[in-house]
Amino acid sequence: MTLSTKTVVIVGASRGIGACLAREYAARGYHLGLLARSEGPLEALAAELAGVHNVRVETATLDVADGDAVAPALETLMARLGTVDLVIANAGVLGWRRAGDGNIAEDRRIIQTNLMGAIAVIDAAVAFFKRQGRGHIAGVSSLSAYRGIPGSGAYSASKAALTNYLEALRMEISSKGIAVSIVHPGFVNTDISPGMEKYPFVATPEKVAKEIADGLEKKRKNIVVPRFPWAALMPAMRLLPDSVMKKVF
Ligand SMILES: NC(=O)c1ccc[n+]([C@@H]2O[C@H](COP(=O)([O-])OP(=O)(O)OC[C@H]3O[C@@H](n4cnc5c(N)ncnc54)[C@H](OP(=O)(O)O)[C@@H]3O)[C@@H](O)[C@H]2O)c1
Repeated sequence: MTLSTKTVVIVGASRGIGACLAREYAARGYHLGLLARSEGPLEALAAELAGVHNVRVETATLDVADGDAVAPALETLMARLGTVDLVIANAGVLGWRRAGDGNIAEDRRIIQTNLMGAIAVIDAAVAFFKRQGRGHIAGVSSLSAYRGIPGSGAYSASKAALTNYLEALRMEISSKGIAVSIVHPGFVNTDISPGMEKYPFVATPEKVAKEIADGLEKKRKNIVVPRFPWAALMPAMRLLPDSVMKKVF
């Protein structure tokens, strides 16, 4: 672990993996910019971190699904922070539905948040980092980017598309001094969905946040967390027969 005076902006920081990332980076000495929709939890987290660690914490409320609001909110927050080293697009929602039930609105909400919301965050970060002359962007994707999860088609599609978007972006902007990392978590015991604890190899958000921060400090391109066993299992998921996938999920 390194102590640093760097600054990280985390979008989707009010709870779960994002809040644990905020705690992990504060412990590492980073100044923080924290965004999410819920003002109360963000303010409580900011007070907790600024009280325990000698770091600066700025917060802003933002709904990433409101495309037009994303760039101004990030611009304002990043201007307040001055220099920004790392932006983590972590905000995401998980939804389950049976295809054919007609609830397309649920799929639209998931894709609007997880894909279009992340793209809007990343686009604002790229604009800021181009002016700054350097920077590092991380997008939080999912194991479902490797293989679609039954009952969660829109979520899986949103994450596969986000991974693909980030791969393309990395090649596009590497010459501008901007690094791009893609984070692929396995199952993490958060409130994103009831019953997360019953999934295979489920990890705590604290463990995952530490591994993500370690990987990002090394500027790794693809960060699979928890590394064991998912670094081997995620690519192998593409080879599993449908019958095995259906049993597991
Ligand atoms: N948990 C897992 O097993 C798992 C596995 C693979 C990938 N992931 C990914 O990891 C990321 C974090 O998930 P998590 O498990 O920590 O979930 P979580 O506990 O539900 O936290 C999600 C975070 O995203 C924020 N968020 C959601 N919708 C938002 C919106 N429209 N605008 C702004 N912020 C929004 C939430 O804050 P507000 O509600 O206050 O806005 C919250 O801070 C997500 O992208 C998720 O897809 C999770």
